[in-house]
Amino acid sequence: MFTSAELLEQINVYIRNLGFSRSPEELYEPISYVLSIGGKRLRPVLMMMAYNLYKENVSEVYAPAAGIEMYHNYTLLHDDLMDCADFRRGKQTVHKKWNENTAILSGDAMLVLAYQLMAQCDVRLLKEVMELFSETALEICEGQQMDMNFETRMNVSEQEYLEMIRLKTAVLLAASLKIGALLGGASSSDADNLYKFGINMGLAFQLKDDLLDVYGNPDVFGKKIGGDIMCNKKTFLLIKALEYANVEQKASLESWIARSSFVANEKIFAVTQLYNEIGVRRLCEDLVESYSAKAMEYLSKISVEDDRKEGLRQIIAKLVRREA
Ligand code: IPE
Ligand code: IPE
Ligand code: MG
Ligand code: MG
Ligand code: MG
Repeated sequence: MFTSAELLEQINVYIRNLGFSRSPEELYEPISYVLSIGGKRLRPVLMMMAYNLYKENVSEVYAPAAGIEMYHNYTLLHDDLMDCADFRRGKQTVHKKWNENTAILSGDAMLVLAYQLMAQCDVRLLKEVMELFSETALEICEGQQMDMNFETRMNVSEQEYLEMIRLKTAVLLAASLKIGALLGGASSSDADNLYKFGINMGLAFQLKDDLLDVYGNPDVFGKKIGGDIMCNKKTFLLIKALEYANVEQKASLESWIARSSFVANEKIFAVTQLYNEIGVRRLCEDLVESYSAKAMEYLSKISVEDDRKEGLRQIIAKLVRREA
């Protein structure tokens, strides 16, 4: 059995060696660029770890694992365009380094490349894997559309927010694990419990991402702080702040949200101050804890020896503490 660090190293080598010998280079250069900057590689590592719960020959799943990472990176190209984000992984985003059309088209190519890689899985499981992958990809579009719809809505509920992040983020972590489990020959009950483990991990992961977007260290986080505040993203922090604010705080929050011209840093500072006064950070941190605890419960239901699950337990613990 491999450690997550060993699996990370293996998938990094595989991704580095993918190489794109096709032309035109204007299409492929941004793809190489974004893949070379790295990132945590969480999804392929999860897929390989789930596979490795059942089977030792993890090189069998390098291609689908690289496929899920390719897919994730494609969503980031388009997400950064939609969120007007200039930085990711400490570097300029593709639409900034090149232009918007490049981010769209290189992203499109990455989606196709992701399908090609995913389809290099065990042919006996091809249909099941591709159905889950496609359903997941569609759900992510739905979550991303909800995320955008919410920018201009003021009455987004906590429930709606949780459904939105389930779709835009959690299903991809869950599908990574489930695909790994299916390819590893897991029972359907194990595969489903790993999926639910991934959903709860994914909810915790996105809540933590929202926290880091406000409270992170930009040098470590690699993204610009305050991006969600700038876009009026209806994060858990903002939803709870609106819910618990007194009359004055609520008016102030609403006026920052309604303002069409402002100095970026002033808005970010003022809204962060309001979050601090209202005390929503703690609420969000508690929810991260509670979803990771729920994830652990699903992990305990999986019918492999307990010590084989240690790597996945550590991933959850790391995720709660993560700064990047
Ligand atoms: C960023 O994902 C998008 C979210 C779902 C929050 P990651 O935080 O996994 O990004 P990288 O791949 O490590 O850069
Ligand atoms: C990420 O949501 C969801 C997807 C990319 C599908 P965010 O917009 O919060 O991700 P970051 O913060 O830009 O990484
Ligand atoms: Mg987004
Ligand atoms: Mg974004
Ligand atoms: Mg974010």
